[in-house]
Amino acid sequence: MGLNPLEHKGIPVEDQVRSWSDLNPQPYDKHAVDPYTRTRVILMNGIEVESILFSHQFARHTDDVDLKQKLALSRRIEAQQQKVVNGLNPGDQTPLETTIGYEQVAVDLTAWLARHEPNPYLHQALDFALLEDFDHLYRYANLYELLDGGNATELTEHLTEITPGRPTIVEHRHPSDDVRGHFETHTVDPLSRLHVMTIVAAEQQTMNFYMNHGTDWIEPIARGLYAEIALIEEQHVTHYESLLDPLDSWMKMLVFHELDEIYLYWSMLQQEQDSRIRSIWEEHLDMEIGQLHVACDLLRRYEGVEPEEIVPAELPDTPVTFEPNKDYVRSVLAEQIQLQADGLEFVPVDDLPKSHRYFAYQAKVNAGGAPSEQVIDANRDKSGREFRDETEGEHPVVDLRDPVSARR
Ligand SMILES: [Fe+2]
Ligand SMILES: [Fe+2]
Ligand SMILES: [Fe+2]
Ligand SMILES: [Fe+2]
Repeated sequence: MGLNPLEHKGIPVEDQVRSWSDLNPQPYDKHAVDPYTRTRVILMNGIEVESILFSHQFARHTDDVDLKQKLALSRRIEAQQQKVVNGLNPGDQTPLETTIGYEQVAVDLTAWLARHEPNPYLHQALDFALLEDFDHLYRYANLYELLDGGNATELTEHLTEITPGRPTIVEHRHPSDDVRGHFETHTVDPLSRLHVMTIVAAEQQTMNFYMNHGTDWIEPIARGLYAEIALIEEQHVTHYESLLDPLDSWMKMLVFHELDEIYLYWSMLQQEQDSRIRSIWEEHLDMEIGQLHVACDLLRRYEGVEPEEIVPAELPDTPVTFEPNKDYVRSVLAEQIQLQADGLEFVPVDDLPKSHRYFAYQAKVNAGGAPSEQVIDANRDKSGREFRDETEGEHPVVDLRDPVSARR
């Protein structure tokens, strides 16, 4: 049985304010942490950031002081929660190591959501971007070896393979081809709504992280690679956010945000082995339930809608789970590597006419070469081979097999 959040009281929002020492938690040990604890921290930080940004946007679109004050209170709590979650990242984890964690989130979260997504179009949208983030992990792993002599598998612990996906250089699309059609709010499976909201927040956080950390390096190759991949993350936010029904009211969207946070903290709680971090997921779950009640009261008061009309009687009973998805990723690689986007649809790249805007856009951005290719060439020159971690055998796509290891 999934959780029925309306049956629980949670912690009243007025009682959720925490002190500075609570907001400055002991970080995890980067050498001892379970890779999927790192990914849970990255995901839940992105979820809190989305709650904060959404609430700010909502506040800018209402002239009701009482409503603004209610939003300000819940938003302050979300901002405190974000500090607690993000504060778990240790200071000796470099931005590039954190980046590899971000792409491990992207791969294993997207693959898991795709595997559990009932709507075929949403499923296809997840598969499509999965192959792109999978490729980012490989590019950054090569940058990590090139710049720091680092071994990315010490971060991923072989739970996620590292090898090319849809090559980043071909991911650059005309903006019109990143816009998708949206689900219908009255008919969508509640699970699908949660899936889309979750992946929007995760991709948005990745976009923000690369926007802000792309200049942490002196080396032009690193700065260039972050700029290039940050732009793909912007495409991914465009892609995923356009799946959401834009006709929901701000108030309903507020309720859906709290529901998604509840579902995700509950999910993280099911898997967390680190008892100290588990207690944070537990506490935040109770806090989110309290925040949901505030949102539901607002919905009732301002729109005359009973929360039961939009809140499902129970949340999905399967928790969003971080686990290896190697076979799944390999099957999508084998079947969908050649896909591109044409307007709202996905089509094999060979079906696009030569006059398609995709090729004109590609010619412009890739005119001087692409950092995502240069980083692999540079690491081959330095290390004598590129960095890969293919734990399940050779690459399922013949054209993407390693030219050096193939010659051995
Ligand atoms: Fe929150
Ligand atoms: Fe990515
Ligand atoms: Fe992405
Ligand atoms: Fe919340």
